Amino acid sequence: MTLDPEFQVFLGDCRVRVERALDRWLPTEKTQPTRLHSAMRYATLGDGKRVRPVLAYAAGQALGTATEYLDGAACAVELIHAYSLVHDDLPAMDDDDLRRGRATCHRAYDEPTAILVGDALQTLAFRVLCEDEDLRIDAADRLRMIAELARATGSRGMAGGQALDIEATGREIDLAQLENLHIHKTGALILASVRLGALAAGVGKDPRVANLERYAKCVGLAFQVHDDVLDVEGETATLGKTRGKDAAADKATYPSLIGLEAAREMASQLVEDALGNLADFDAAADPLRQIARYIVGRRR
Ligand code: IPE
Ligand code: IPE
Ligand code: MG
Ligand code: MG
Ligand code: MG
Repeated sequence: MTLDPEFQVFLGDCRVRVERALDRWLPTEKTQPTRLHSAMRYATLGDGKRVRPVLAYAAGQALGTATEYLDGAACAVELIHAYSLVHDDLPAMDDDDLRRGRATCHRAYDEPTAILVGDALQTLAFRVLCEDEDLRIDAADRLRMIAELARATGSRGMAGGQALDIEATGREIDLAQLENLHIHKTGALILASVRLGALAAGVGKDPRVANLERYAKCVGLAFQVHDDVLDVEGETATLGKTRGKDAAADKATYPSLIGLEAAREMASQLVEDALGNLADFDAAADPLRQIARYIVGRRR
């Protein structure tokens, strides 16, 4: 898809910012234990789209905050995401060999290391929220950010969604169950990315945050529906992960339940719904508008 030139600049800036921050927070490869630290950097600093950090930056900007105060939120959500991918790819879960265009963490290193990479990236995310000196908010709001990320990541958020995903594999589930699964495994962290951006902006109580949350819920579901679609119609080389794995593993997905065309339409409709929630926002919310479109137009 062709991106709006201004949004392209925003996307590039956000990616550079968050990657610089991640590089600073991750211990160097020379730090003991070197194999673990090398694997943590491998899993985090590869060619990711950084959608969750971009959402955190865009939400903060929509509420009037400069990006320099948002690096901590952006970094924390990407660390959680990177951890989730490493564990998602393990043989006990999706058993994937390719991620972000190269060998998955457990393939490039080994399974015990990959398990520990996930553990350590997850705790690093919370350390960032505790210690980031650029966060211009009081201790109570910092605690809210920590609680928000913990809730979104745990057994009633992403990890819970992953449990539902495993349970549903090879079984028939209905549309309501599939939506619940996707909302948890992927939607929860996307919602948290937007909420953390708002909290880092110091305006968690702004009434407009409720609109941003409704926006994020639509975008989060659309993101996973489109991910399911790409697994069917994408190209391995472009995706950077092996296409066709969902069908091969008999995963519960939108294309398998409602068909490819209906899944595509649903993702587009969700983006329209997401955009409807931004009606009260001015041009400062344009990156949020653009990223919603990007999420269902992307080829990877
Ligand atoms: C993949 O996420 C996992 C899902 C939740 C669908 P992304 O598509 O954001 O992966 P990266 O970070 O760009 O590699
Ligand atoms: C992954 O969903 C969701 C999380 C990592 C929490 P998928 O299993 O569909 O992600 P991909 O397709 O492997 O990236
Ligand atoms: Mg999975
Ligand atoms: Mg997977
Ligand atoms: Mg997938």
